[in-house]
Amino acid sequence: MIIAIDGPSGAGKSTLGKMLAKKLDLLYLDTGAMYRAVGLAVLETGASLEVKEKIIELAAGAKIELIGEPENLQILLNGEDVSKEIRTNEVGQTASIISTISEVRKILVEHQRTLGERAEQGCVLDGRDIGTVVFPQADVKFFLTAKPEARARRRFQEDTEKGRATTYERTLSEINQRDERDVSREDSPLSIAEDAVVIDTSELDLTEVFDQMMKIVSEVQTAKR
Ligand code: DC
Repeated sequence: MIIAIDGPSGAGKSTLGKMLAKKLDLLYLDTGAMYRAVGLAVLETGASLEVKEKIIELAAGAKIELIGEPENLQILLNGEDVSKEIRTNEVGQTASIISTISEVRKILVEHQRTLGERAEQGCVLDGRDIGTVVFPQADVKFFLTAKPEARARRRFQEDTEKGRATTYERTLSEINQRDERDVSREDSPLSIAEDAVVIDTSELDLTEVFDQMMKIVSEVQTAKR
């Protein structure tokens, strides 16, 4: 079974994706982490964001691995654990910028498809283009969304808990900037797949969203039997 979860940043995709993967015993793939890993590689080498060829070369050469259980997923870049380093706002913005390059997307989409297809029981993938591009034939497609203020509030809380220095206003402006880029890029922009179930998580708590998602997954599982 392939479950696609798309949506803007801070809508709860990764938390809910992990919960679903754990409950259903599926592989969990955080595709945003892959773009972030390439973003980090770019920042570490000091490559200019203007020089596409260099970025494509870095993406092609980057060995990105996702290992461990969904709740303590580790992201390795060329053998090094970069799980923490990729979570900064700077890396997020860089990931969003390099994700507009078609060749970079091609490399990562191929990697995602290979990992997803290889997973015996199936896979939960979260990202921006899973239901539209990576796995258009996914068994279940969710599009999670929430008002920008709700998403910024959650991100800000998460950042504060993890000791990252920021303000709510800054988080909101960064979220808006990244979303604007992600929906307006030419190649695979963030968009709602025709057959996706849209859930607005602004006013819902985690359990409510999880229950809604599980109900839909169970219906699909029953129909497939
Ligand atoms: O999900 P995230 O915030 O960690 O993703 C970081 C950036 O990576 C996001 O701003 C856009 C890009 N991305 C993408 O283009 N396609 C995906 N499937 C996942 C992420």
